[in-house]
Amino acid sequence: MEKLYEGKAKVLYPEGEDTLRVYFKDEATAFNAQKRGIIPGKGVVNNKVSAALFRLLEERGVKTHFVEELSEREMRVKRVRILPLEVILRYKAAGSFAKRYGLKEGTPLKAPLVEFSLKNDALGDPLICEDAVLALGLARPEALEAVKATTLRVGEILKAFFAERGLELVDFKLEFGEREGEILLADEISPDTMRLWDMATGEPMDKDRFRKDLGGVEAAYQEVLRRVLGG
Ligand SMILES: Nc1ncnc2c1ncn2[C@@H]1O[C@H](COP(=O)(O)OP(=O)(O)O)[C@@H](O)[C@H]1O
Ligand SMILES: [Mg+2]
Repeated sequence: MEKLYEGKAKVLYPEGEDTLRVYFKDEATAFNAQKRGIIPGKGVVNNKVSAALFRLLEERGVKTHFVEELSEREMRVKRVRILPLEVILRYKAAGSFAKRYGLKEGTPLKAPLVEFSLKNDALGDPLICEDAVLALGLARPEALEAVKATTLRVGEILKAFFAERGLELVDFKLEFGEREGEILLADEISPDTMRLWDMATGEPMDKDRFRKDLGGVEAAYQEVLRRVLGG
């Protein structure tokens, strides 16, 4: 089957005008693809975790691109025009944010913080402010407001969901797309795109284990899946 697009973590296959089949790979990249590797079983985990979280969010009234799971590594989604933005919600300082401001990882923030970066690998996904998003015409003002409000709502839902499972949601990245005048939550929500810390031990249970060579990467992904499905 001919590919529509192959990215760093997923392959998109066309299914006509309206839907796509997304295949989740085991390939992992970090630091703007300077670090590369394989996390065996990651594609299965990310497909199943994303599917479960999209279902949860739909139940709570968040509109997403998710249609159905097709196999262990594949889901069907509505085809959207992806806004060229990575939308990040942070509860505590970690990763690039901690580095940028000279903060210790885990420093709490006074309030949840929404950040945007321009989705552009060649430029290294630079941070972009809301006024620049509007000035460059990357999103209409109403779309930007909807994206921000939805991201905060998604954060409330996911933070509570993971807390019930002994995982602290530290930050996450979302992508949104437009379709028939609607803004839909798209892409994936997985241990590749969230920071999850075990509440009992403080250990990272996400892609930071790969980024920082902490070991136990596969086991951490499997444990996140177990807790997400285990309810
Ligand atoms: N519903 C959708 N319709 C169209 N494109 C999508 C949809 N969901 C996700 N995408 C895009 O699919 C691409 C493939 O995913 P991924 O491998 O993560 O790529 P990347 O290397 O760009 O991060 C991403 O660029 C993402 O924006
Ligand atoms: Mg991606």
